Amino acid sequence: MTITITGMRKRFGPTEVLRGIDLTVEKGELVALLGPSGSGKTTLLKIIAGLDWPDMGGLDVDGVNWLNLPAQDRRIGFVFQHYALFPHMKVRDNIAFGLTVRPRSQRPGRGVIAARVDELLHLLQIAHLGDRYPAQLSGGQRQRVALGRALAIEPTVLLLDEPFGALDAAIRRDLRNWLREVHGATGSTSIFVTHDQEEAFELADRVVIMGQGQIEQIGSADQIHDRPATPFVANFMGATVEIPVTMRAGRIEAAGIDATRLERRVLPDGPATLFLRPDDITPIADTQGCWTIETVASTGATLRIALKDGAGNRVETVLPRRAPEAAGLTPGTRTHLRPEAGSVFPGPRPATTPAPAAQAPAKENIR
Ligand SMILES: Nc1ncnc2c1ncn2[C@@H]1O[C@H](COP(=O)(O)OP(=O)(O)O)[C@@H](O)[C@H]1O
Ligand SMILES: [Mg+2]
Repeated sequence: MTITITGMRKRFGPTEVLRGIDLTVEKGELVALLGPSGSGKTTLLKIIAGLDWPDMGGLDVDGVNWLNLPAQDRRIGFVFQHYALFPHMKVRDNIAFGLTVRPRSQRPGRGVIAARVDELLHLLQIAHLGDRYPAQLSGGQRQRVALGRALAIEPTVLLLDEPFGALDAAIRRDLRNWLREVHGATGSTSIFVTHDQEEAFELADRVVIMGQGQIEQIGSADQIHDRPATPFVANFMGATVEIPVTMRAGRIEAAGIDATRLERRVLPDGPATLFLRPDDITPIADTQGCWTIETVASTGATLRIALKDGAGNRVETVLPRRAPEAAGLTPGTRTHLRPEAGSVFPGPRPATTPAPAAQAPAKENIR
């Protein structure tokens, strides 16, 4: 099934939750929707599932206008973060549920249902758990059963809303690999929602970055990492250090910044803002430099170095403790900064963005 979303808008009271979404998900594709909490991911999934309706825009699936199609006719498989399995039903009955509640005329025979459940138990690697009750399962096993229940109806589209969000990191990683395999085996068109970058990039070939009801960028991990399309994406991908610079003939200029390792950009001359990840900034000892080291903290593998310039701007950098450049960097040392990579966007830093000194809370806001 190919899903085509066009010009989709949705507001709840004064809040515009979707502000014009255009997205096509190809047949058999696994797309991840990645964005901070409140960016409208769940709202978009609910509209696709038929649990909510947009104010404007189109939802076309293989040429059919789904906005005119009731939820039960869309055949959606939906897995939520906290998927309530029926506690009084065995695993196999939970998985069979969507088939057994069909009207008699559409319901497969008992033997067919049993065979389908066996097949899924095998695919989900929980064949030995078929006769257990949900309370006798771990969190990871329960999410496998939830996925089995979603897959049993042979969904046209599989929607997963932070399905591993409640599980711990090691189990999430396991389930991620396993989900890729299951997706490959079933070939379903799937949309996976997460606010976890690593999860999105590992799972999906294409990642859709959402921020405040809008798609900010669509691309692969490398594209989004190396070429963020907007300041929002740069920030979301960890470029939390923002330095005001001046563009001149495609070169980035700023006092105390050695920009020789950054590529030339096709940007107009004038003010711009450089976005950097703390681990892409090397402080270089320099008696003429305008940055002074305030603190140096070691985690064993890395040094976290906080610096301040004469104007009161602060930046934090992270570098390998054994890097040659790290030698001799101690509080009070004067340096200049050498960015190893970064993105630059035209214009001064937006007034709404806090200065570098207040960067830490800003980063939390968008996670
Ligand atoms: N039924 C609702 N009524 C009012 N506001 C809602 C409703 N559902 C979601 N919202 C608001 O819409 C915004 C986006 O929510 P949501 O789609 O759940 O985002 P996400 O899944 O990305 O965290 C949030 O600000 C949320 O408070
Ligand atoms: Mg959500």
